[in-house]
Amino acid sequence: MHIYLYIVAAVLFILGIKRLGKVRTARSGNTVAAAGMLLAVLGVLVEAQALSWFWAAVAMAVGSVIGWLVATRVAMTAMPEMVAALNGFGGGASALVAMTEQIEDTSQVTLATFGGMMAIAVPASIVIGSATLTGSGIAYLKLQGKSVPHPIPKAQRNLAHAAIAVAILAISLWSVYSTGAWSMTSMVLLTLLSAVIGVFLVMPIGGADMPVVVALLNSFSGVAAAASGFVIGNQMLIVAGALVGASGVILTQIMCKAMNRSLLNVLIGGVGDGKVAKDAKDYKNIKSTSPEEVAMLLDGASSCVIVPGYGLAVAQAQHACANLAKEIERRGCMVRYAIHPVAGRMPGHMNVLLAEADVPYEKLLELDKINPEFQSTDVVIVVGANDVVNPLAREKTGSPIDGMPILDVDKARTVVMIKRSLSPGYAGVKNPLFEFDNTLMVFLDAKEALQGILDELKGM
Ligand code: TAP
Repeated sequence: MHIYLYIVAAVLFILGIKRLGKVRTARSGNTVAAAGMLLAVLGVLVEAQALSWFWAAVAMAVGSVIGWLVATRVAMTAMPEMVAALNGFGGGASALVAMTEQIEDTSQVTLATFGGMMAIAVPASIVIGSATLTGSGIAYLKLQGKSVPHPIPKAQRNLAHAAIAVAILAISLWSVYSTGAWSMTSMVLLTLLSAVIGVFLVMPIGGADMPVVVALLNSFSGVAAAASGFVIGNQMLIVAGALVGASGVILTQIMCKAMNRSLLNVLIGGVGDGKVAKDAKDYKNIKSTSPEEVAMLLDGASSCVIVPGYGLAVAQAQHACANLAKEIERRGCMVRYAIHPVAGRMPGHMNVLLAEADVPYEKLLELDKINPEFQSTDVVIVVGANDVVNPLAREKTGSPIDGMPILDVDKARTVVMIKRSLSPGYAGVKNPLFEFDNTLMVFLDAKEALQGILDELKGM
């Protein structure tokens, strides 16, 4: 019976992931995958006959309540932190499953006696799971803007990491061929060293690249889960882990490509760790304007493109933005939204925000679709976006956004940039667009500015 539940669950996972790939179907994709998870849990309950139903029910109730509370309370802008925490717990859980198996199995005989699969899967699950747990913890802190410096000086760091990696390999081998107290000792050492390497590997990575790291750790948590699936012989866990592992890697690649960076560059780059360019505030020829003037501009416009960015999420201005767009449209001006693949702080961030405000999907245009349209656009309103419209990316200046494809907003007749100050975006570099002749700056919180423009427009 359980095998049928597993097969249906696996199919639902695949369908769910497929639907998550498109904005229009993403919400239902989530529900489909959650239904798959419910069937998978039921399958485990049916399969594991020796299970204590009471404790299983207690564990599921506690987990469900915590999950519900956290998911309903988390702010949209803190979603990457939540994903980091969930990845970490996933890795930790896989490591615990493998440890339990090692403790139970190795009191008399070695892991090697159970065959090659166990000999590989148990240490792999412990190593990857523990490193994912602690690495995700560091990613969580960095996403919160906390500085977590590496304790080892840069010059000796690679050597230290390599030494720990060699020690992990050696102890893995020891743990496979030892029994009793030695097996326990090797397991504890393996867990500790893996936890340390997880911390050390994430520490030098720049704060700006944490969303990529979170996607990579997500993939690792999947690999750890698949390994623990082999440990306990659960096909569902192997399938689900493999799916998470593969989709995490694909997402990591997509994010790197959208930023025109290699994964290696992300892992060693140190981008966004408070290294704000010296000239970030060194601007000349800045023209600031008011919501009233922007309303007058829009009153005479026939086409308008709105470019949302991270600041829209911070200000929670999605409803104000959608209301303003409706008013502009009511006046006969065509309005579209330009969505950059890495706008905000997580994949699909802007799509999710705008969907919350019921903006029709067909109005959201991706980079390659909207870029040729800017030339014939009267007004572009950039709401809390910065790096994704920074023309510096087109030049070879050695900046972190070098070569990143950007939204060509500067080609439009007028660009209105709504942000609170001249501060740089996440990459920490100067944005020459602020100084362009066709750029007008509105130095206000996004919600306040959009509401102000809407009020002025309505009063005209
Ligand atoms: P950013 O370049 O980070 O710029 C956001 C701007 O929003 C800031 O310059 C800030 O300026 C402004 N802002 C903040 N709060 C605001 C508020 N309440 N009202 C108005 N403006 C506000 O954002 P972006 O253009 O969306 O680019 C995203 C960046 O994150 C890129 O560098 C990207 O590579 C990186 N990143 C994204 C992802 C994903 S998957 N999305 C993953 C990794 C890295 P003020 O402080 O002056 O207001």
